[in-house]
Amino acid sequence: MYAKFHSIGAYVPSTVLSNADLEKMVDTSDEWILKRTGIRERRIARDDEVTSDMAKIASEIAIKRAGLNHSDIDLIVCATVTPDYFNMPSTACVIADKLGIKDVQAFDISAACSGFVYALSVAKAFIESGMKRHVLIIGAEKFSSIVDYTDRSTCILFGDGAGASVISATNDKSEAIIDIHASADGAYSDFLVTPAPGSVNPLSQRVLDEGLNFVQMKGNETFKLAVKTLTKDVKEILSDNNIDAKDIPHFVPHQANYRIIKAVGGALKMTKEQVVLTVDKYGNTSAASIPMAINDIYEAGRLKKGELMLLDTFGGGLTWASALLPFSGDNL
Ligand code: UT7
Repeated sequence: MYAKFHSIGAYVPSTVLSNADLEKMVDTSDEWILKRTGIRERRIARDDEVTSDMAKIASEIAIKRAGLNHSDIDLIVCATVTPDYFNMPSTACVIADKLGIKDVQAFDISAACSGFVYALSVAKAFIESGMKRHVLIIGAEKFSSIVDYTDRSTCILFGDGAGASVISATNDKSEAIIDIHASADGAYSDFLVTPAPGSVNPLSQRVLDEGLNFVQMKGNETFKLAVKTLTKDVKEILSDNNIDAKDIPHFVPHQANYRIIKAVGGALKMTKEQVVLTVDKYGNTSAASIPMAINDIYEAGRLKKGELMLLDTFGGGLTWASALLPFSGDNL
């Protein structure tokens, strides 16, 4: 039994937060943000719109595009670091309920920006082992809920959104996910961290006074490690599978910073046409970034059945992952 990438869907909140808006909030400029990150604007969810709401809409689209009923889904894996609730229930359980899916295994995974590719590896393993047939994987983030909008080093980067995909069983090897690499190095756990709430810093007045509930990032150190690790990782997955970078029509990197994408794409000698870029309009949406980017090329009619995708991501943990797979859905 093989696992195939059966469909894609995404949800993008309607509220736009532009660089000009941020200029009014912190000491920054459109010019600095654009030059250092490539971001022009990002989307922000409404106050009454939570991670599971965005995930639900993306999931409905993905299930429909796979030609399935909600009841066909036998596992839901939600990758998020901005869950509806920090402890329980998992966002995947809330999503299952909002989709009206009963009697389904559902859980979250926490791998920050690498979450969607980590979820893909989980889905692949469940399907190849014969335990599940149709796995709904989701990357969804309300990152604005953990961003300090007085901290110019982080608030310019992140946005909200969700993407989802159905991974299904197939006997046809030509449709199958080819390979996934996923790894982590906890020695760098202080590079990207939300210090609270958690068992280290349970919620307290001190947590609120010191803003420990907001994301903190060692930006420049993360940047350098991201370029090095991502380049090594994609080169390895390509050579392991005897595939040349020039034969990849769609390189879908995590959308954190245009300069990182350019450096990795350049190291692979990719052309502009091969590299999928959405960071300019969505910013960094963490676990949602890769499925949102895949959905963008799908809806633009640029992603055709059978075409190869190379996914590549890096995030808090630190975690990183890459995947080599054909798009095995229908162009509707
Ligand atoms: O998704 C998970 C993985 N995340 C990433 O991969 C993100 C990686 N990091 C980055 O994308 C970049 O490091 C940033 C965009 C966050 C920062 O760019 P940088 O080129 O690494 O800048 P820097 O942190 O070295 O800061 C350079 C200067 C500093 O001023 P001084 O010390 O040189 O006077 C900062 O204070 O830029 C200043 N700065 C800003 N200036 C205007 C930092 N943020 C801003 C800002 N506007 N928003």
